[in-house]
Amino acid sequence: MRSVISILDLSVEELDELIATANDIIADPEKYAHICQGKKLATMFFEPSTRTRLSFEAAMYELGGNVLTMADAQSSSAAKGESVADTVKTISCYADIIAMRHPKEGAPYVASLNASVPVINAGDGGHNHPTQTLADLLTIQREKGRLGELTVGFCGDLKFGRTVHSLIQALSRYQNVKFVLISPVELKLPSYVKKDIIQANRLQYVQTTDLEKVMPDLDILYMTRVQRERFFNEEDYLRLKDSYILTVDKLKNAKPDLAIMHPLPRVNEISVAVDKDPRACYFKQVLNGKYMRMALILKLLGVKP
Ligand code: NCD
Repeated sequence: MRSVISILDLSVEELDELIATANDIIADPEKYAHICQGKKLATMFFEPSTRTRLSFEAAMYELGGNVLTMADAQSSSAAKGESVADTVKTISCYADIIAMRHPKEGAPYVASLNASVPVINAGDGGHNHPTQTLADLLTIQREKGRLGELTVGFCGDLKFGRTVHSLIQALSRYQNVKFVLISPVELKLPSYVKKDIIQANRLQYVQTTDLEKVMPDLDILYMTRVQRERFFNEEDYLRLKDSYILTVDKLKNAKPDLAIMHPLPRVNEISVAVDKDPRACYFKQVLNGKYMRMALILKLLGVKP
């Protein structure tokens, strides 16, 4: 059973194939409008979500399929103490594919070992978020026309920001990507990404606390929210939450073709005035996420137009 728990579960060729499918869906949605008729996607979300859950559900509906949703863990048997393993064994009896978000790192992996249908990791704690990365890759491909030869700045909470971890893993496989890691010292990239991915592959990177200093170098600026729910104490969160706020003024030395990205939700780390800048791509990322999830569902179900 093929599941996607990490972005590294997909080869570069498969990522190319998913991007090609997504672009084909964008060009001709009618061709795909009924191809998942009779198939069911179950969304199991044990953590808050707006975009990811609704994007999976919209994706399945736009393929002509149906959706079973478990949006609130408190109303499921998890609240009675049921294990993830038992819950997914049960849901495998009803659905053809499962998208799962969980606050515990590794829970979707455990789910994939127990499910008899494909499981997609829709975010596990502060670890990985491979389908946000699919949205990000399609956005980069469409905005920049390439996935290599890029200087990519990641700014904010690089420690707990799971979308950052998955996107760095993905981009590490393309030619000449240089990483600029911008964060407070306390929120630096964890070593399983920095050592095991960036350093192990001898990729170029710089680490800094100063966003404005590196701004002119960047082709992409990937802003992130400080992940309040993963902090051990509120005091640290309050101290770090306003570390980086992107304003129109701070963009004055940026490249004219910079792509400003953010997985959303935004709190205050990008000023609303930046939304009018044509370089702001974060709402395009939302739309691209739906198309890439459509492509991924088709691939894992083995459905072809
Ligand atoms: C991200 C997440 O859930 O990790 N959101 C998303 O899925 N688009 C980012 C975040 O919550 O900050």
